[in-house]
Amino acid sequence: MLAKIILITLLQITLALNDFKIQRKRLPDAILIGAKKSGTRALLTFISTHPNVSAADSEIHFFDKYYHLGLDWYKSQMPYSNDNQIVIEKTPKYLVDPKVPQRVFQMNKNIKLIVILRNPVTRAISEFVQSQHRQKRNINNVNEQSKRFVRMLYESKNQNFTIRKNWNIIKNGLYVNHIKNWMEYFPLESFVFINGDNLIQNPHDELEKLQKFLGLKPIIKKENFVLTNQKKGFPCIRLDSQNEEVKCLSDQKGRQHPKIPDNVIKQLQDFYRPYNNELFELIKQEPFWTV
Ligand code: A3P
Repeated sequence: MLAKIILITLLQITLALNDFKIQRKRLPDAILIGAKKSGTRALLTFISTHPNVSAADSEIHFFDKYYHLGLDWYKSQMPYSNDNQIVIEKTPKYLVDPKVPQRVFQMNKNIKLIVILRNPVTRAISEFVQSQHRQKRNINNVNEQSKRFVRMLYESKNQNFTIRKNWNIIKNGLYVNHIKNWMEYFPLESFVFINGDNLIQNPHDELEKLQKFLGLKPIIKKENFVLTNQKKGFPCIRLDSQNEEVKCLSDQKGRQHPKIPDNVIKQLQDFYRPYNNELFELIKQEPFWTV
């Protein structure tokens, strides 16, 4: 009897050790390339609760900033994973940096590319608010933020005021231009396009789409999402549908936006419209927002 117990214990230890051994670091199978301020953190947080996903916590910036450190360095930045998991990293800067697509292609031409997009007008305001927080400027004064946004938005050309196309906050939302750079290397099938506005309204729909694209069992479902009082208006995820424990995003996500005058919003919408139309034609999808 004792011999049998010892044998079983030894077997259990061997299995546990094997399990430990197969946890290793490897290059990612999928990259969340952007767009910045479209819900990239929420999407990564939600998909990370899937047992078959192992995601890097911080933004690695390998292909834009640290490329000179080489692929071994990139690999060393990856989370541990086992054979049943896919590895994901997110760096939203990749979408807009024109040198990145070729570098990613050279690493793995079959990599899966995750893109989350939200209305570029909302996205621009969100990035502006973030920049104000980073500069510790007008943090609690949304009226001042609104005025400053409008001041920075326009440039004067031949005595006309036009939208400053070269302002990064505006340029980052010209999604079609960025996607075209990526499509010089990757076919449409390499991408999944997630609707960042719908990720707030119906997160389960977007998670269903992402799980399917990644070839994962659809375990993250409607009942996994909850609206809590702390995060009014933004969904949090239940780590396990049997469990009360929920994970919400930090206070740096879901900030209050300044009220931008209606006429300015309309001008921005008009400005982005042709780019949006071209985008949805290019990616062969119905518009994610009213264009
Ligand atoms: P705001 O803070 O301007 O509202 P990113 O993670 O790419 O930086 O995107 C940040 C944006 O994600 C937030 O912008 C917020 O609107 C959006 N978001 C989407 N789902 C969210 C969630 N569940 N919790 C908090 N923010 C969420």
